[in-house]
Amino acid sequence: MLIKLKKIFIRKSESLLRKLKFFIGSFIRYTYNCIFKISFFEKPLPKVPFSKRPLATKKRYIKLHQETISNNSKEIIDFEKKIGFAIDKEWFSELSLITQTCIKKSKLNFNHGRLLFSVLSKYLSDNKDDFRKPIFIFETGTARGFSSICMSKALNDQKVNGQIITIDCIPHNQKILWNSIIDNDGPSTRAELLSLWPKELENIFFIQGWSDVILNRMHLNRIHFAFLDAQHTRKAVLEEFNFVSKKQMKGDIIIFDDVTKGYFDGVCEAVCEIEKLSNYSIKYYNFDNLRGYAIATKK
Ligand SMILES: C[S@@+](CC[C@H](N)C(=O)[O-])C[C@H]1O[C@@H](n2cnc3c(N)ncnc32)[C@H](O)[C@@H]1O
Repeated sequence: MLIKLKKIFIRKSESLLRKLKFFIGSFIRYTYNCIFKISFFEKPLPKVPFSKRPLATKKRYIKLHQETISNNSKEIIDFEKKIGFAIDKEWFSELSLITQTCIKKSKLNFNHGRLLFSVLSKYLSDNKDDFRKPIFIFETGTARGFSSICMSKALNDQKVNGQIITIDCIPHNQKILWNSIIDNDGPSTRAELLSLWPKELENIFFIQGWSDVILNRMHLNRIHFAFLDAQHTRKAVLEEFNFVSKKQMKGDIIIFDDVTKGYFDGVCEAVCEIEKLSNYSIKYYNFDNLRGYAIATKK
């Protein structure tokens, strides 16, 4: 009888010990996840990034587009001439109507698409002989896909095999409103929004997520060319620069958008620090007072 009781006691204590071990293990995992912010504690991704209702009629979007596209600054034309590459105007007009013409307080501006196309085309054309393997282009801040599509056109025009990896917290395959002329036909996915550019879409890999989280999980050996245009804070820009710069070689390029004092001081501070402390030479461009860009080339 005593032996039987002893056996039951041992079995019960073993099972209690197992439960205790499981509880302690779960507690440690939970604490670890809290501290290191593993997926289930991440900031939720935006469900309605632009609006719940179309913000304007087709007519208003078309008028805004015409006003912006006809306002051709001399500086961007001179820049394209100097670089030696300019994007096809008709192609660009259609893309900018659908992906860049939106209702916002600040003045619309499509120049970064032209700048990206020119600089990337020149980079590809100068280095063509070295590209036996595909080249990698990295972007933070996809938005409606305008800048990615411009870069992809440069790849296609130069007949270079390349891949564009672009990150945004906005979804690619969910039907939403984009503050775009196409909202008047109902919600659409980004893939549908960009369906007029199938050849350009073939080169683009869209990733949804917060850029800092994705950077920690992403493995890339080389980034030939990058466009940083997501969160406009000093910290985020420096984090993204550090991620990219480790994967670049001499002559590779990073373009920063919105290097505009008084509007995006965080971006300006980050680029200034990069200029002082890193092995990149920086050129600043202002095609108008409200929007500056910086082109960083690895020395
Ligand atoms: C200025 S827009 C990008 C415009 C785009 N490059 C173009 O030229 O069409 C900035 C984008 O960055 C995204 N964004 C901002 N902060 C982000 C973050 N921390 N992680 C991922 N995406 C972010 C926003 O959702 C927005 O779509």
